[in-house]
Amino acid sequence: MATWSNFNLQNGASPLMEQIIFFHDHTLIILIMITILVGYLMMNLFFNKFINRFLLENQMIELIWTVIPAITLIFIALPSLRLLYLLDELNNPLITLKAIGHQWYWSYEYSDFNNIEFDSYMIPSNELNDNNFRLLDVDNRIILPMNNQIRILVTASDVIHSWTIPAMGVKVDANPGRLNQTNFFINRPGIFYGQCSEICGANHSFMPIVIESISIKNFINWINNY
Ligand code: CUA
Repeated sequence: MATWSNFNLQNGASPLMEQIIFFHDHTLIILIMITILVGYLMMNLFFNKFINRFLLENQMIELIWTVIPAITLIFIALPSLRLLYLLDELNNPLITLKAIGHQWYWSYEYSDFNNIEFDSYMIPSNELNDNNFRLLDVDNRIILPMNNQIRILVTASDVIHSWTIPAMGVKVDANPGRLNQTNFFINRPGIFYGQCSEICGANHSFMPIVIESISIKNFINWINNY
């Protein structure tokens, strides 16, 4: 989850988030190099004497400052496309979870097993326990098994919401009358927090998402005893 003064991305908990972080770092390095180069050029512009008489009709410099940015953009575009298609790929999911956005809470359905379904409301500030996070904890958490491919189906019942959970690298809009799909693979146990990220009304800030990642053995146990 996000903690104080966290300037960077949150820690990832899935291979997709790992790839997203790699791409972010890669692009940021290119961005820093461009900024330094342009900054250096601008500084030089301030301190030269404007006496270059040959900078008219100079096709060579035109060619250089056209082709180099074009090549630089390819170095961003190709990894970006790779990531885009990687995020969309489904690899034989073991379980499917359906997330439905409402004003203003999420409800979940595990239709693979005993048709488990429940609502997930934020815990109000005046009912918090010492181990809860304000505006982030819910009464009924999503329980999911780690080290398994998981499919998420996202939809909404009233207005557009967005099922967003940074540690998984997942952000899918929940549209009424549509069923969106995404997937992830949780590679460690833990509790992962997310929030709705589509402005959906007065209590938009108060419909958080919590995933509790546990071992497959405990997950089966939870399913059987629900
Ligand atoms: Cu639901 Cu914002």
